[in-house]
Order: sequence, then C-alpha cells, then structure tokens
Amino acid sequence: MYGTRYDVEHEITVTAGATQALFTAVTACVRPGDEVIVFEPVYDSYAPAIELAGGTVVRLQLAAPDYRPDWAAVAAAITARTRMIMINTPHNPTATVWTADDLDRLAALVRDTAIVVVADEVYEHIVFDGATHASCARHPELAARSFVVSSFGKTYHITGWKVGYILAPRELMAEFRKVHQFNVFTVNTPVQLALADYMSEPARHTGLAAFYQAKRDFFRDALADTRFELLPSRGTYFQLARFGAISTLPDTAFCEYLTRDIGVAAIPLSAFFADGRDERVVRFCFAKTEATLAAAGERLRRV
Ligand SMILES: Cc1ncc(COP(=O)(O)O)c(C=O)c1O
Repeated sequence: MYGTRYDVEHEITVTAGATQALFTAVTACVRPGDEVIVFEPVYDSYAPAIELAGGTVVRLQLAAPDYRPDWAAVAAAITARTRMIMINTPHNPTATVWTADDLDRLAALVRDTAIVVVADEVYEHIVFDGATHASCARHPELAARSFVVSSFGKTYHITGWKVGYILAPRELMAEFRKVHQFNVFTVNTPVQLALADYMSEPARHTGLAAFYQAKRDFFRDALADTRFELLPSRGTYFQLARFGAISTLPDTAFCEYLTRDIGVAAIPLSAFFADGRDERVVRFCFAKTEATLAAAGERLRRV
C-alpha cells in the first residue's frame, strides 16, 4: 500500500495490539533523561510509557479548531536530549489527518539527528473525502528512522482481540525485539492465522474509508438539528463537538450528564490534556450501527 517492502523476518513484529507496540517501542529506545515530544490532545497510553522508561514528556499543542501541528514550536522543542517524537495520524481524538507536507516538515526537522519517530497509524484506512493517508512507511527518509504502528483491532472491527503489528528498519526492530522477547514473546497463533486468511481479501481494509465516511455523514446529519457545534472529522471514527451553547458545566460533568441522563456516552476532551484543560469539547464515536446513531441523534436533539 505504501510502496515500501518490509522484510518479514527482521522488520515486522506482530504485537498484542497497538498499545503493546507503542509501549515496547518506547521502552526499547527511551532512557532516563531522554525527552520525548508528543502532541496534545494526546492518546492516553503515550505519557505513562515514556514516564515509566524514565523519560520526560515534552507536550506540544494542537490548537482548535484545526488541530494542526505548529512546526516552529516543534523546531523550538527539539534539544540534544530529544530521543523520540510520537505522532498519530489520523488522530484520536481530533479526527484530523496529517498531509505529505507535514511529513516533509517532520523529516526536515529530524534530519541530522538521532531522533526516532513513532508513528501511530492505527486509523490508517479511515481517511475521508478522498484524502490519502500520509504514512511514514511511504516516506523513505522517515521510514528509515520510524516505528510504524498498525492495529487489526481498528481495521477489522476486533478491538477486543488485541492484535496489531509494528514496522521498523532492521536495526530499530532488533532493539524492539529485545524487549518484546521477554515481555510478550509471541501473540497467540490461532488469531494470527485467522487474520492472515482474512486480510488476503484487500477490500476488507480498502473499503473501510467509504464504510466509515457513510457513518460520519449519517451521524453529522443526525446531529444537524442539535445545539452542538460539530468540528471537522477528516479521519478515524471520532467526531468532536463543542457544547458551549448548551451548558456551562465542565466537560467531564457534561459527559457524565450525557451518559447518565441522556443515554449517549461521550468522552471529555480534557482527558487528553495533562493539565486537564477544558475547551468545552466532547468526543463522540460513530463506529455504531445506523440505528444506534439515529437513536443518539434523537436523544441529543433533546439536550
Ligand atoms: C491512537 C490510538 N493508538 C493506539 C490505540 C490502541 O490500539 P490497540 O487496541 O490495537 O491496542 C488506540 C485505540 O483506541 C488509539 O486510538
């Protein structure tokens, strides 16, 4: 898919979900005193892995409503101690996608450094409106220093099965496997064999963008007559919504209210910021049947 060939013996490792791939990549590379750059709002497993390895989390901000990376801020944050930069596209929770130009900017900043990139691409097949997923695996310069993380859980609707994989050049993968060997050793064989059979039909992953785009459009239509302000959803199966016109509650309390009183669960965006910053935005997930999405729309129109 990305025009790059990874050697199955030395450059691909099947993992117990993307979470283990991310954790192991961090553990294999980060030493006490190292700095790791992440972008907030940030997926919740990154910082604990970095801190457990003795690293320092350096948090840069993706600003609403576009949540684009600020490349000047990235350049300013890079120091002699920067060991790793963790990126995530398509992005949970903001549903933004990076472009090929973003990857060029990143490549220019890490050129002539020893910085390792961890690219969390678990929503790689879920990009909308004809956009192309910008994979680090497609970018030769970045691929040479990147761990690229995928999740069968996201791609094949089997989140609870916890199987994913990680790609990296041989030298990086050798380090990864020093940890993987004594942590996981191997991921259960029957599921690997089942997935190998299942993925032989490419339409099962190449059709994913259209499958979720229809759900996104259906859900956005269902929310059109509510007082939520919908932010763009360009990838993933998430939809951010501002609720400032509805309530003055903190986003955590508002989500509890939605869940308990309205019967629609949402995640407060503040959960993705270390300082708990409340931007009065919630995240909905539209990986649901149309009947469920329609019922949610009905309930949310009453809010
Ligand atoms: C950005 C991101 N990375 C990683 C994961 C974890 O994937 P897995 O279930 O394969 O461990 C998730 C799951 O929600 C995610 O949203």
